[in-house]
Amino acid sequence: MSIIARFLPLALLFSSASFLGVRGEGLQISLKNPVHNCVLGINDALTEVSFGDMDLNATYYGRLCGSEMFTTSMALSVMKWCNTHIQIESGHEGFSNYCEKYGETYLPSWEEILKKVNQSNVIENVNTIDPEIMGTVFNSTIVISEEAFKAGKRTEDVWTTEENYHHGFGWGLYILVGMAILVGTLNRLFAFLVQKYATPYNASELAPRSPGIRGKLYTLYRKHIEVPALFGYKHSQASAWGMLSLPTRLQGLFIFTYVVLNIVFTVVGYEIFHDNLYWYGQRDTQIIRYLSDRTGIMCFYNLPLLWCLAGRNDVILWLTGWSYSTLNLFHRWVARIAVLQAIVHSAGYTWLERDIIATEMKERYWWTGIIATIVMSLLIPFSIRPFREKFYEAFLIIHICLALVTLVACWYHVQIWDGQYDPWIWASVGVWAMDRFIRVIRVGILTNKALFKKGTNAIGTIPNLNENGLIRLSISTSIKINPKPGQYFFIYTPFSIKPWENHPFTLASWKFNEKNTDTTILNFLIKPLKGQTKKWQKEILKNQGKLSFKLFLEGPYGHENFIENFDKILFISGGSGITSILPYIFKLNQSSLILLPEFQIKEINLIWIIKNEEYAKDILSNELKEYIELGFCGSIPFKIHLYVTRENQNHLPTISSSIPQEIVNSLAYGNGNGTSLSRNAELESGSTSPNHTSTAIMNKVEIINEKPSPQSHSSSSDLSHSSPDLKDSKNKSMTIHCGKPHVRDIIDRSVNSLVGAERLAVSACGPSKLMDDTRASVCDIYGNNEGQLGGRRIEYFEELFAW
Ligand SMILES: Cc1cc2nc3c(=O)[nH]c(=O)nc-3n(C[C@H](O)[C@H](O)[C@H](O)COP(=O)(O)OP(=O)(O)OC[C@H]3O[C@@H](n4cnc5c(N)ncnc54)[C@H](O)[C@@H]3O)c2cc1C
Ligand SMILES: *[C@@H]1O[C@H](CO)[C@@H](O)[C@H](O)[C@H]1NC(C)=O
Ligand SMILES: *[C@@H]1O[C@H](CO)[C@@H](O)[C@H](O)[C@H]1NC(C)=O
Ligand SMILES: *[C@@H]1O[C@H](CO)[C@@H](O)[C@H](O)[C@H]1NC(C)=O
Ligand SMILES: *[C@@H]1O[C@H](CO)[C@@H](O)[C@H](O)[C@H]1NC(C)=O
Ligand SMILES: *[C@@H]1O[C@H](CO)[C@@H](O)[C@H](O)[C@H]1NC(C)=O
Ligand SMILES: *[C@@H]1O[C@H](CO)[C@@H](O)[C@H](O)[C@H]1NC(C)=O
Ligand SMILES: *[C@@H]1O[C@H](CO)[C@@H](O)[C@H](O)[C@H]1NC(C)=O
Repeated sequence: MSIIARFLPLALLFSSASFLGVRGEGLQISLKNPVHNCVLGINDALTEVSFGDMDLNATYYGRLCGSEMFTTSMALSVMKWCNTHIQIESGHEGFSNYCEKYGETYLPSWEEILKKVNQSNVIENVNTIDPEIMGTVFNSTIVISEEAFKAGKRTEDVWTTEENYHHGFGWGLYILVGMAILVGTLNRLFAFLVQKYATPYNASELAPRSPGIRGKLYTLYRKHIEVPALFGYKHSQASAWGMLSLPTRLQGLFIFTYVVLNIVFTVVGYEIFHDNLYWYGQRDTQIIRYLSDRTGIMCFYNLPLLWCLAGRNDVILWLTGWSYSTLNLFHRWVARIAVLQAIVHSAGYTWLERDIIATEMKERYWWTGIIATIVMSLLIPFSIRPFREKFYEAFLIIHICLALVTLVACWYHVQIWDGQYDPWIWASVGVWAMDRFIRVIRVGILTNKALFKKGTNAIGTIPNLNENGLIRLSISTSIKINPKPGQYFFIYTPFSIKPWENHPFTLASWKFNEKNTDTTILNFLIKPLKGQTKKWQKEILKNQGKLSFKLFLEGPYGHENFIENFDKILFISGGSGITSILPYIFKLNQSSLILLPEFQIKEINLIWIIKNEEYAKDILSNELKEYIELGFCGSIPFKIHLYVTRENQNHLPTISSSIPQEIVNSLAYGNGNGTSLSRNAELESGSTSPNHTSTAIMNKVEIINEKPSPQSHSSSSDLSHSSPDLKDSKNKSMTIHCGKPHVRDIIDRSVNSLVGAERLAVSACGPSKLMDDTRASVCDIYGNNEGQLGGRRIEYFEELFAW
């Protein structure tokens, strides 16, 4: 089943890609100018004048092709100026096509036309582009002068060159994206191979080997390019008054290159000349016309990419393993660029057609173009971060509707090109359809039994009916899967008034059902907010804290960070961010026991900063309880450092010492009421008797009530092996601190505790400020100086909790 799930999308993708490729060939993008430009150029020069025998009632081409004076003039000029046979013949083919298609006339062969020439009535060497001659009505055959021929030929050549540039630069963008994807893929492959086949890092070496020049460069790369935020230190936090999310520097570099390339590609490669017969002497018009075409076409090139970057299921994600939030960031930037291009394109054409705008308005291509540009532009204000955060569901529906309208309007807009531009629309539709299709497949594979079988597949509980507490959701899948930490699933409530609504939640832990071997039970911890989660909370509370549901699951998405190759792990989490850390701890517990001898990790420290002690009590007395009792996560020594930061009105981190005591009590007796263990039978539970647990736990916890001092780098906790005065707390598996920690201190102490060549993984999940602090601190640690670490010895991982 999973093989099908894996290959079906790829097959779909390749078929749509080859479709695009085949259609692309029809565009005949070539670097050489077509040979028929010689004849078409002569046509351009000849149409600067007219002839006495033209049927003024006929269409444009009917008038030309039906006029004997015109066709004989053309034939004579072609014989004079086009010197190769292929130019002459392919030109005839090109021109006679126009006569048939647009003029409903038949163009005889050159030989036949030449027979009609009245040799005594031919005017030689007419410079049709001389302003004095332009517009003259001739009553005889003429032969154009060299100057006129050159202007005509150049006009055609420049036109085809510009067209090639428009498309060439479009492909240039794709090449850049392709290279980025290639680099991402190779990077991932490399990381995978290193992790699989590299000889184990010898952590028992007394000192790290001194890094070679490559090692030093790698350190600098990580310090200055890969890890840091673009400017300053904000990445997760909103910048620019909450409107923008700033990328990391590496992401920023790519986005910057992409934006710059779009701008460069928009302004270069224009050949403007006075004698251009399409717009004779009108330099402004030439520039605006090329610019408008260029931006319109590049906008079309950006569309499929835009759709690709928006999907949950797309190739870029699979190949590179980049996070959805990274791609989403790219999506927003490509969108901004595409909208700007559409606006420039529309403004340009409005200016070009300013004199006939009223008639243009009646043309379908014109008003659908206006709709497309307006709707695309509307997408931007409807996607700003505050709106997304406040009204996510409204944002989503508006976004999808406007995107759909844009595609349809674009489709009609380019109909005048006889399908030449359809491939880009189809590619966007294809990418979109594929994403939706795979979503359905994923839901079907994971939870089809919820739809076709009676009974429920999910149990939601709220321990102690605590209104501030978490919802624990256990969902059985319809097939056995092998979950990994870092994965998240979208949960649907199919039997509600909004069955399409779905929300992402991180997998907290899992269990294989012994009785029913082909299901896996996935556990989620959900913090009730204002929307769907609030509804779940209400329903569960109404049912005495336990309710059976039918839910759909879509996933798994997300990927695991390989923290297991490090010697020490520092988890930093804030508030509900702990839910992304728990699955890693859960897996380490299991795998460290299975892989006992070769397991590398020597120590895990979990920093958890909380405002709301209710919340902490809940998780401490459930998911984390066993570790606190044992002081071990599987075979690895495990310590929890809890920071309670409830601030008083003066925003000083002083709190009554009763809160930590309450937390300890809740650990001993369950969450306030001593019933939490039995209430959570569905989840992981310890089977030790409550009384034994109480005393054991009390001995394991210590309250440290010192005043936190941001300046000092070594006194606020027992994290370091090197502080002898804290020996007592060495055996304690949990310490509770009052006040906020200084993230930099914590990381410094973890770094100082590394012995020899040991490597440290720092993994953070929580409020954006905490993540940005952690990122900045890790960046500071990178370096080749004393007290700093090389690029390979410390690694920063960020767990996704929002985008
Ligand atoms: C990768 C990921 C993993 C997550 N894991 C967990 C978890 O394990 N436990 C947990 O409690 N929360 C988790 N969240 C957050 C969770 O998705 C939101 O809290 C939930 O969607 C809120 O639903 P609501 O209808 O109550 O939202 P509202 O109260 O309407 O909105 C609250 C916030 O959630 C955001 N939000 C709402 N719907 C979505 C959506 N479909 N996709 C993304 N953001 C949304 C809104 O922008 C807003 O900022 C995770 C989010 C992401 C992106
Ligand atoms: C053009 O058409 C009009 C009316 O349709 C007619 O009166 C006129 O004679 C035509 N002219 C030519 C040159 O055919
Ligand atoms: C050729 O042109 C000349 C001069 O205009 C004219 O007298 C003569 O009748 C034309 N011959 C034919 C066959 O049209
Ligand atoms: C051709 O004939 C038309 C009228 O038949 C006349 O107006 C025009 O001036 C003539 N052109 C030339 C170049 O003699
Ligand atoms: C840790 O792993 C052991 C062995 O698999 C298991 O018995 C125990 O319940 C696990 N603890 C937690 C908290 O998951
Ligand atoms: C149980 O919890 C409720 C609210 O959390 C509290 O009011 C009550 O006193 C608790 N009961 C016991 C026996 O601790
Ligand atoms: C647990 O402790 C309570 C008092 O706190 C006592 O009444 C009870 O008998 C004890 N149970 C066991 C199994 O020791
Ligand atoms: C720490 O625990 C070990 C056994 O688990 C014990 O031998 C040792 O005395 C304890 N040390 C302290 C300082 O309590």
